[in-house]
Amino acid sequence: MAARPLIFRLSPESAHAATVTALGIPGVWNAFRPLNGAENARLATTVAGISFPNPVGLAAGFDKDCRVLGSVLHLGFGFATGGTVTLSARPGNPRPRVVRVPDRKAVMNSLGFPGSGLEAAVRKLQKSRKYSDRILVSISGTIEDEVVECLTRTQGLVSGIELNVSSPNTSGLRVFHEPGRLRGLIEGLVAVKNVPLFVKLPPWMRNKENRREMLKLVETAVDAGVDGVVVANTHPIESSRLSVGNGGLSGAPLFEHTELMIADVQALLQGNADIIACGGVTTAEQVWQLLAKGASAIQLYTSFVYEGPGLPSRINRRLVKLMNVAGITTVDEISGPVPSVR
Ligand SMILES: Cc1cc2nc3c(=O)[nH]c(=O)nc-3n(C[C@H](O)[C@H](O)[C@H](O)COP(=O)(O)O)c2cc1C
Repeated sequence: MAARPLIFRLSPESAHAATVTALGIPGVWNAFRPLNGAENARLATTVAGISFPNPVGLAAGFDKDCRVLGSVLHLGFGFATGGTVTLSARPGNPRPRVVRVPDRKAVMNSLGFPGSGLEAAVRKLQKSRKYSDRILVSISGTIEDEVVECLTRTQGLVSGIELNVSSPNTSGLRVFHEPGRLRGLIEGLVAVKNVPLFVKLPPWMRNKENRREMLKLVETAVDAGVDGVVVANTHPIESSRLSVGNGGLSGAPLFEHTELMIADVQALLQGNADIIACGGVTTAEQVWQLLAKGASAIQLYTSFVYEGPGLPSRINRRLVKLMNVAGITTVDEISGPVPSVR
């Protein structure tokens, strides 16, 4: 039997720490730039008024303290989302809190926002200022004033803010699933923001009361003034392999449902706010499907863990190939079924 790569023999958290350390080595990741296919002008896209060289973004959670966002961009991502950043440093939940499910290309996590807090993230973002036009930062908290402070301290250092009210692993966040509380929080942020604001939503189930409730949150958020929505966070899951007994599922099993949710949100918003699709994306074909359904960009995380650092560049190149076959010149023109390419 072939030996598993070293990185998969480490615990998920140790492997992640090793990856982030490697990405922190200055200069090395620059070498990927000419090869990453990220800057083909045909892939350029605009999301809530922010221009990105391509629509493939890194989702929140990979770089919680905003330490290596510049290196990540060199791998071919069009944009990268740092955080989730909270006002104070937090230890997160007890371990085990990240579990790989390799046969499903999925991950279960119950991290609960471990992080070094706002001050540390601001220091790192200051160092990556030259990339600020391609960085979003995810912020969160359970008290409105704390979230407002996260926004005011970071917004000068990034191109957009992503408000996370959707982590299934953090007790207290669910208060913002009440439309009145969500509206109050967003209006408070809108009053002081000077960059586009996105809200990242929890996923909703088909044919359930939950779908109605979550779509009500989308409507409330847009009415309160967000510029875009991120659909969606991890799917709540129960598992005895996580020390707290429950957490969020991410990765390949989410994709089909992501597509359904994008169709739901697009029908509801009809262009009144931009959509970033997130959940289970691994291929250029899937990016095509989500853009065709109305998303302006996508974010991914778990497939990056399984497929490695070449993934964003492979997606970019394949997307251009699909566009060639379809005879279109820009990603904005993507619509209809995925063209078949041999
Ligand atoms: C280990 C891990 C940590 C995460 N941490 C965060 C986080 O801090 N904030 C957030 O908004 N989403 C977080 N997420 C969710 C991802 O941003 C994304 O919404 C989700 O994983 C679905 O996308 P994927 O299937 O491409 O991974 C995390 C996901 C994983 C796997």
